[in-house]
Amino acid sequence: MPLLEMLGPVTARTALPVVTGTMAARRFGVLPVPSLEWNEQVAQETAHLYERVKAVIPSVEWPFFAPYVKAINALKRERNAVILAHNYQTPEIFHCVADFVGDSLQLAREASKVDADVIVQCGVHFMAETSKILSPDKTVLIPDSRAGCSLAAAITGEDIRLLKRKFPGVPVVAYVNTTAEVKAEVDICCTSSNAIQVVESLGTDQVIMVPDQYLAKWVASQTKVKIIAWKGACEVHERFTGAELRRYRESDPSIQIIAHPECPPDVIDEADYTGSTAGMIDWVRKNQPRRVVMVTECSMADNVQAELPNVEFVRPCNLCPHMKRITLPKILDSLVYMKEEVVIDPAIAERARRPIERMVNLKR
Ligand code: 13P
Ligand code: SF4
Repeated sequence: MPLLEMLGPVTARTALPVVTGTMAARRFGVLPVPSLEWNEQVAQETAHLYERVKAVIPSVEWPFFAPYVKAINALKRERNAVILAHNYQTPEIFHCVADFVGDSLQLAREASKVDADVIVQCGVHFMAETSKILSPDKTVLIPDSRAGCSLAAAITGEDIRLLKRKFPGVPVVAYVNTTAEVKAEVDICCTSSNAIQVVESLGTDQVIMVPDQYLAKWVASQTKVKIIAWKGACEVHERFTGAELRRYRESDPSIQIIAHPECPPDVIDEADYTGSTAGMIDWVRKNQPRRVVMVTECSMADNVQAELPNVEFVRPCNLCPHMKRITLPKILDSLVYMKEEVVIDPAIAERARRPIERMVNLKR
């Protein structure tokens, strides 16, 4: 029987770190705002991109997106910038302007080897911080610095110091959904795609795992290592219930259910597969189910639907309000005005780099 001990308050109490828009603008200069007119030429130049999203974006909406898509792709070249986009971004971002897409681990790996002057992070703030930590010489922009995360807000660096005093010698694993200040205090980071491997890589019989209680419970159910967990939760995934999934199954016994490990245990118990956002996408690509419920943030089903029109996605539509702060107009502003730049105290960034690199360098 796996062991699990639960600690922590928690309500959101970590303020997002300071982000500025002016320093990068001074270094790079501001560019003229491009034309956002919809005309025949824009239609022709963006037609190949519309092909990618036509299953999920009605043709009447494309004239609103296309001028932004064209302008952003031109500005990326002018700024020598790349866009890293998380799997929860909306289809017009994910399929039409992103250079790299993926889960938190894939984006972190990409950030560490990106060959560009500027990274525009289309995701939430902790992801942009991770990119900055791994690419300190690059300018990292986030189109809306208010894009936070209920998990990252659930624990502070001081909480980690207290935990280490309470459990001396017990290694601390931090989910990447944490601030740089928290990462600076821990032994190693993990993501939902490598959490079990990370916990077992430490070679101890117990570990502290913060801040997601549900990811910790899921890991505890898969390993013999005792997990001391923190009581944070993802505000999107904690809303799903096992009862709603049982109703889907009752109405269609052949339906497939796949869930993210940030979901509560009664949800995971109902799932045919549990894994990171990239793991879930790969599972659908490989199995091509007739009907599937993706128990995670809603936009991801749109992104996979665009690629696999023959799979029917049943969507309990929980949106992440932080991910949805990132829009095409804000990405355009980022590239025109070089805002908002992610700035991390170099001393904290240096200490936060070790646990992230330790994770990234683990053999797959
Ligand atoms: P993934 O690493 O699985 O993409 O998860 C990140 C996240 O924030 C899920 O809510
Ligand atoms: Fe954070 Fe949840 Fe949003 Fe992911 S879905 S970024 S864990 S609040």
